[in-house]
Amino acid sequence: MPLSISDCDLTDGPIIAAIHTSTVTPFMKYQFGSASTDAIRDNFRWQYTAVLTQIQQKGSEHVYLKVVDQNPDDGSGTGTMIAWADWELPEDDSAPSSSGGLRGQPPYGYNYRFCGLACDAVEAMRTKVLQGKKCYVLNQLVTLPEHQRRGAGSMLLTWPFERADKEGMVCYLDTEEDGKVIALYEKHGYVKVAECKVPLWVCGLEGVYTHVAMVREPKALAEN
Ligand SMILES: CC(C)(COP(=O)(O)OP(=O)(O)OC[C@H]1O[C@@H](n2cnc3c(N)ncnc32)[C@H](O)[C@@H]1OP(=O)(O)O)[C@@H](O)C(=O)NCCC(=O)NCCS
Repeated sequence: MPLSISDCDLTDGPIIAAIHTSTVTPFMKYQFGSASTDAIRDNFRWQYTAVLTQIQQKGSEHVYLKVVDQNPDDGSGTGTMIAWADWELPEDDSAPSSSGGLRGQPPYGYNYRFCGLACDAVEAMRTKVLQGKKCYVLNQLVTLPEHQRRGAGSMLLTWPFERADKEGMVCYLDTEEDGKVIALYEKHGYVKVAECKVPLWVCGLEGVYTHVAMVREPKALAEN
């Protein structure tokens, strides 16, 4: 069952939302609190349709990519999207910047306190690590659970490496502290460079949430 990678198109918002909702990571659990899965999916559907529309109409430094299984077992005969990613390209100073950060009305149950603290902590960590350097940033990467460990995540994760190496640019990502996911990033040359913590008791929860920053340095072209 061959997998192929391509740009998302305008109609992909609902399937991106469904894939995103298929795995509830600890971050999402804290972020969405008591919101229902349907409400989270609706929120994502609005958000991703708006972002894809913005990308198509106005252009953006965000690139939404998908991996399609060209020959799925479901007998449909058509390709099925099984994974997607949001990459942010190094900013072009001459082009208008668009954040890609469109958000719908958060669903009932959303934990504003956690999101505020986590976003501030992650933003501060990112600023400290990057120090204004231009780079490629992986903002999101999700594969449907039943299609994980088939290489889709790696296809999306390594997408800009050739370009980044030619341009001598760093690739950056930050992610929650999950050993399996971090092992995948390390396999592709990322190194953990920083971490930040959010005390959950401040948000009415227990424990501490940890988010890590990882960087892949460009390779000299001869190394490839
Ligand atoms: C992280 C994620 C995108 C990987 O997608 P994928 O399509 O399975 O990726 P690949 O098939 O290219 O790589 C799989 C590798 O990831 C790691 N991995 C992922 N899930 C794993 C699991 N459940 N158990 C063990 N290793 C796992 C392993 O290193 C594995 O390599 P291996 O199969 O050679 O042992 C997917 O697990 C996912 O969507 N997770 C939930 C969302 C998330 O955490 N996203 C990342 C933070 S933004």
